[in-house]
Formats: sequence, C-alpha cells, structure tokens
Amino acid sequence: MHRLFHWIPKLTTTPGPSPRPFRFLQPHGALHCGALSLETLARKFGTPLYVYSADQIAERLALFQQAFAGRDALVCYAVKANSALAILNLLARRGAGFDIVSGGELERVLAVAPDATARVVFSGVGKTPQEIDLALAADILQFNVESQAELELLAARARRLKRKARFALRVNPDVFAETHPYISTGLREHKFGIDIRRALALYKSVAGDRWLQVHGISVHIGSQIRSADPFGAAMDRVYKLVRQLHRAGIPVHCIDAGGGLGIDYHGGSFDAAAKVSEYAQALDQALDGFNGRLLLEPGRFLVAQAGALLARVLCVKRNGSKTFVITDAAMNDLIRPALYQAHHEIVPVRSRAGKPRIVDVVGPVCESGDFFARDRSLAPVRPGDLVALLDAGAYGMAQSSNYNTRPRPAEVLVEGRKARLIRRRETVADLLAPEQDVQEK
Ligand code: LLP
Repeated sequence: MHRLFHWIPKLTTTPGPSPRPFRFLQPHGALHCGALSLETLARKFGTPLYVYSADQIAERLALFQQAFAGRDALVCYAVKANSALAILNLLARRGAGFDIVSGGELERVLAVAPDATARVVFSGVGKTPQEIDLALAADILQFNVESQAELELLAARARRLKRKARFALRVNPDVFAETHPYISTGLREHKFGIDIRRALALYKSVAGDRWLQVHGISVHIGSQIRSADPFGAAMDRVYKLVRQLHRAGIPVHCIDAGGGLGIDYHGGSFDAAAKVSEYAQALDQALDGFNGRLLLEPGRFLVAQAGALLARVLCVKRNGSKTFVITDAAMNDLIRPALYQAHHEIVPVRSRAGKPRIVDVVGPVCESGDFFARDRSLAPVRPGDLVALLDAGAYGMAQSSNYNTRPRPAEVLVEGRKARLIRRRETVADLLAPEQDVQEK
C-alpha cells in the first residue's frame, strides 16, 4: 500500500496487486481519503483541517508487527509524532505499546488506554521528579535513562516510592544517520544518550541497587532515516554491549531499537512493506543469537502518510516575478517546511484546466518563514479552492502552535465510510482562557 491521498486525475491507472484503502474515482473527481471526498469533509468540518485514515495507521502497525513476528517484539509507538487520543486508542487496541517523552504523554496514554501502561517506555533527555513519580506509579515497562544524574534521580525516586524501576541506558552509538541535522541524534556530539563506551561501567555501578532493575539497552539514532544500514550498524554496537554485560554477570533481556524509519515525502512509489522488511532484516542480522525482547519505537512511519492537512486558498497574488498562493493554513499548523525545509506534496483537491505554474504556497502568518513550498510547480488554483498538504500525519498537529493567536485546526479520523471529529477546532476563547491578571494595578 502506498499513498492514501491521491489527486485523482493523476491516478487513472489500475491499483497494484496489494489492496489499497483508497478508491479510484473518475478523472476530474475530488481527492478522497478512503471513501470520503475531502470536499465533503471541508464543508462539514471547515478548514484548515487535519484528516487521518484509521485504516492506514492500523495497516502500518500491522506491517511492523508482522515484520518482527519471529521475535518477542513490541511496537511502542512514539507518541510525539501524533498524540491524538483517538489514534493512541486505535493503536493500543491493536496491541501497540508507547514511547513517551513527558508526563503529559503518559497522561494521554492513561486517559485512553490505561491497561497499556505495562507497554510504555519513557524516553527523553530530561525528566522531572514529578514525571518520574507518575511513571513509577503507573508501573511502566521501562525508563530509558540518558545520563548518570538521571539514573541517580530515578534510584532516589524509586526508593522513596518503594517501587522498583526497570531501566535501560540509552546509549549513543556514534553512528552517522543521513538526515536533517535537527533530527539526527546518534553522534557523540549530540545531547542524547550516554557514550556507549561508558555504559558498561555505569551498568556495573548500579547492578546491586535494590530499587533499580537492569532491564535493557536502548538506542535511537535519529529520524527520517531512509537507509536500513545505520540501524544495523547501531544494533551491532548495542549487541556487542549486551554480550559484554553478560560476561560481566549482568544479563540484559531487552533491546530497544528506537524509531527513525523514514518515508518518502516526494510522492514516488513507496513500498511500505518492503521498507519495513528491509529494516527488520537489518536488525535481525545484527541481533543474530539474541533471544530477548525487542522494542521498536516507530512514530513517523505509522502515521505520516495517513494524514493530510486540508487548506483553502485565500488568494493568489503576484509580487515582482513571484506568484504566491496564500492558504488559510500556516506555519503554526504545519511547521515542518519552515523548520526543516521539509518537502510536502501539495495537490489541489479538484483539478482545473490549465498549465501548472511555479508558485510559493504560503500561509497568512507575519513571517517570510511561513511557507509550505517555494518555487513549486502547482496545477492552477483560484481563491476558494481546496488544497491538500500530504504526508502531514506525523509531526504536523503535534508541533502546531497558536502563533499569531491562530486557533489550531480540527482533526478528523476516517474509518471506512465514516469520519469522526476527534478534536474540535479551537476557538479564540480557548486560547485566551489561561490568561489572567491582565489589568494594570
Ligand atoms: N524514539 C525516540 C527516542 C525519539 O526521539 C523519536 C523521535 C522516535 C522514537 C520516533 O522517531 P520516528 O520514528 O518518528 O522517526 N519533528 C521532526 C522529527 C523529530 C523526531 C524526534 N524523535 C520532524 O518533523 O521531522
């Protein structure tokens, strides 16, 4: 299964052999998510609007689960990619665990899938005592500890609450992953993890601690990594450390391989099943002989291509030699292009006759950084038309903000022939609510 959102006129070919959860409609029809027209969704729920396919998310989870079916493996979805409660619920019901990075994310899991806390791992480079206490009380599966100081804090909190803390050290394997520098994390100079050369000594130093249980080793080398090689290289190093620990009398039963598997944002043919199996093979090869538990923390791979941001064209204007298509969605709704120069395909929801034009697609926010695409060839659009920004299911809504006092979009989850409003559109009143003591005294 490939992309879910299709600009129908481009796609009059017959579907490939694998069943796909979208329908080919007539040429000149509207873009659909599953069985539903995005025009209908825009009419019903307004724009900007995040639209997600539940079917594709479930399918991607299943791909991961199947690729590792030969092992004792657990997929712990990285909540940060898209933390919508309905999506967490959908994943939990299909057996997923969760990788969280804050007390807030744990509260989300507790809110919709309290029985999944036994499948939660807690990552992150700085955890507060309150967050640790919350996670200890929830009896989560594993703390991924990123420094000696954090390990000491964890031991102190566990002692205080009389709860044993299962932990893994997140090691930094010093592996280069070719991706955007902001989302690469596996090099020694990054803030993440513990130098893999120091890990053995640190494990040894707490091996007898009454309140700490050596549970695993974790690693995460970055995000949007397209090649399986760096994952294999990192796993080689991790498995070497597992063997060293065994020799030192410290058995490690669990390896957390992190997340990071990338997708294709350029709309090429993307074989998700082949990608996951290539990834699984790279890990399997490196872990030959390891019979313990394997945790995986995919985020983007499960949700990115299941989502689109639907926006309406407000106006089309020319300045100098440039043409700007201004939409009602902006950088506060989807910041990836501005922050990482990330590419998102943009397609008109219904095609018009005429030649494509080279345009910048931008939002109304008062910054030149507020763009979705620069010098992009776009089929003709007019004010009032709908456009869809594709592959926006991961790190879209999750990284949105209220910059310019812009209420954030509503979110809709499409399941078969039904669309569920899973988050209502914010109102300006929602935004003003926390403010107080505003009058000068
Ligand atoms: N595990 C850990 C410890 C992580 O830090 C991350 C992502 C993941 C798992 C999930 O990685 P994924 O499978 O989604 O690549 N905002 C950026 C991506 C930041 C990723 C941060 N960590 C973006 O929009 O591209």
